[in-house]
Amino acid sequence: MELYHGDIVYSESSEKLNVFEDSWLAVEDGKVEGIYKDVPEKFKNVPVTDHGRGLIIPAFSDLHVHASQYIQRGIGMDLLLNDWLNTYTFPQESHFADPEYAEPIYEAYVDDMIRNGTFHAGIFATIHRDATNILFRKLEEKGLWAYVGKVNMDFQSPSYLCETTEESLRETEIFLEEHSGSGTVKPILTPRFAPTCSRELIWGLGKLGKKYGVGVQTHVVESRWEAGESLRLFPDCVSDSQIYEKAGLLGNGPSIFAHVIFPTEDDIRVMTEYDCVAVHCPEATNNVIAGIMAVKWQQEQGVNIALGSDIGAGVKNGIYRQCAASIKLSKLKEFYEPEQGKTIDITHAFYLATKAGGQVFGKVGAFEPGYVFDALVIDNIEDAGHPMTPAQRLERFCYAGDDRNIIHRYLNGKKI
Ligand code: GUN
Ligand code: FE
Repeated sequence: MELYHGDIVYSESSEKLNVFEDSWLAVEDGKVEGIYKDVPEKFKNVPVTDHGRGLIIPAFSDLHVHASQYIQRGIGMDLLLNDWLNTYTFPQESHFADPEYAEPIYEAYVDDMIRNGTFHAGIFATIHRDATNILFRKLEEKGLWAYVGKVNMDFQSPSYLCETTEESLRETEIFLEEHSGSGTVKPILTPRFAPTCSRELIWGLGKLGKKYGVGVQTHVVESRWEAGESLRLFPDCVSDSQIYEKAGLLGNGPSIFAHVIFPTEDDIRVMTEYDCVAVHCPEATNNVIAGIMAVKWQQEQGVNIALGSDIGAGVKNGIYRQCAASIKLSKLKEFYEPEQGKTIDITHAFYLATKAGGQVFGKVGAFEPGYVFDALVIDNIEDAGHPMTPAQRLERFCYAGDDRNIIHRYLNGKKI
């Protein structure tokens, strides 16, 4: 048992931020035991760590990120999705055929995610199994929580970044077998998106999903171009989401749909029926995608929503940045498309970044009893002589903070 003192803040729901100023958080076997205003008598001999007025918050979850694109962040941001993929992303990802190219990039990415307090993530690698395993092992070595995907692409892809259908399915099955029974880092099926996957491939992945009991992550209705192209290629499907439903890819594990900016009624049906998570990546949306997710509206339809950095369409780790970006974008949405747009507040955004995203991994992302103590201590937010409330410091951190404000990190109850 350990006790941590500070200003403790976590989300109970999208409407409720729980704030425990000047309080004590008790941790037993790496899990939250309770939060107390004063140290209870029974804990009088328990070791304490005093973080003063430091803000103790849950570590963040990034539900959509391409670790393989860490090296290209901030490049080609004047292009839209299809041109950006073809001009920058596909050529760059092709270099991951060489593990020596991959290793230092994955090392830098993992270091940077830890520095920025992202301890749980849904990660795309590339089509290359060897390089993907380098990433997988690094995440395991650090004790992080992740779903990692070897990407599948066998269609409408450049020759230097394209597998045969057989090869793609075979390599994926080996990847699943290599990691069966793994701990907090798990494999996940990762068809890149419908425009670069044949029907045979997606249906083959559906069979693997059922056989191995693994989920899926992909990009869904992320741009008008992608939504149209998916329906052109799969004319028997009425929505992008239905492709994955019909292929048997949903319900075998988590179903993580990145972007979901232009959902039809049928996309909403599929997502609510299979408990999918739609991942809002506001910075990436601004950079290469164009279109704004109707966060509040989708939530009202019953869709689970979380946040993602989508590096390299997004440019930085740090899901706290996406909290601020999601609020800004929701205001634009309300201004331009008031029928679907409603502004969200920091309470809502912080919930998406912590408890909502964390649900995919288990009990992480909040400080209710039994949750894993994955936490950050945030400080140096205030200006001298101008004290702020804990909620105000949280908001300022999301808007104006960076990794220098994260002064301590706890992963699985241990300081790192
Ligand atoms: N759609 C297909 N591939 C990608 C990618 O690498 N990034 C983003 N943002 N969208 C995609
Ligand atoms: Fe993406």
